[in-house]
Amino acid sequence: MQPALICPSILSADFARLGEEVDNVLAAGADMIHFDVMDNHYVPNLTIGPLVCTALRKHGVTAPIDVHLMAQPLERLIEDFADAGASIISVHADASTHLDRTLSRIRERGCKTGVVFNPATPLEYLRYVMPKVDLILLMSVNPGFGGQTFLDSALQKLRDTRRLIDNSGLDIRLQIDGGVRVDNIERIAAAGADTFVAGSAIFGSKDYAQAIAQMRASIAAVSAAGPEQ
Ligand code: DX5
Ligand code: ZN
Repeated sequence: MQPALICPSILSADFARLGEEVDNVLAAGADMIHFDVMDNHYVPNLTIGPLVCTALRKHGVTAPIDVHLMAQPLERLIEDFADAGASIISVHADASTHLDRTLSRIRERGCKTGVVFNPATPLEYLRYVMPKVDLILLMSVNPGFGGQTFLDSALQKLRDTRRLIDNSGLDIRLQIDGGVRVDNIERIAAAGADTFVAGSAIFGSKDYAQAIAQMRASIAAVSAAGPEQ
């Protein structure tokens, strides 16, 4: 398995001081910035768009920015986020009318691709597009808000997805998003995740470095023991 990546979700950051928050969380050991885009249509909340991604790049952020699009339609947003400096653009499988074309376009624009599955969305969407996927994101909450409780149904889905990835022989990351905390990340890693989004568990903590270090220690304990299956 690839080395674990910790991706703080800026949804739980202090937006009045966003540049500083991102600097601080990267200095605290984060690998990648998770950027939640919500449109009040695909999900019942409204957040940030490409201008904010551009602003972070202008501020000097060089770390990968992982854009999670919870929005429809996707076409224009993909162009705008590629221009804004996104590193990965992830789309919900059921939000794209032509998923194969969407993934091709993201790669043509020089970004890595992600496909996102809500708790009830079947993995079947992956079957014919796996070679075009760089990251699979499983939602462990229903999308729209930070601070929700991790849904345990995601653990079996992680195991199923890990098996799919391993059997494919492809280089695909397995990301988990929603309710990830210091006290459950070990089970999540054991089920096969290698890329961990955490919003409130990091930005809601007093010491970002400590929260990230504790998460890494729990993940390392799993790597040392080997995966559960
Ligand atoms: C939810 C978002 C998540 C959210 C996670 O729709 O996609 O990225 O910020 O927040 P926590 O870690 O607080 O559940
Ligand atoms: Zn997200």
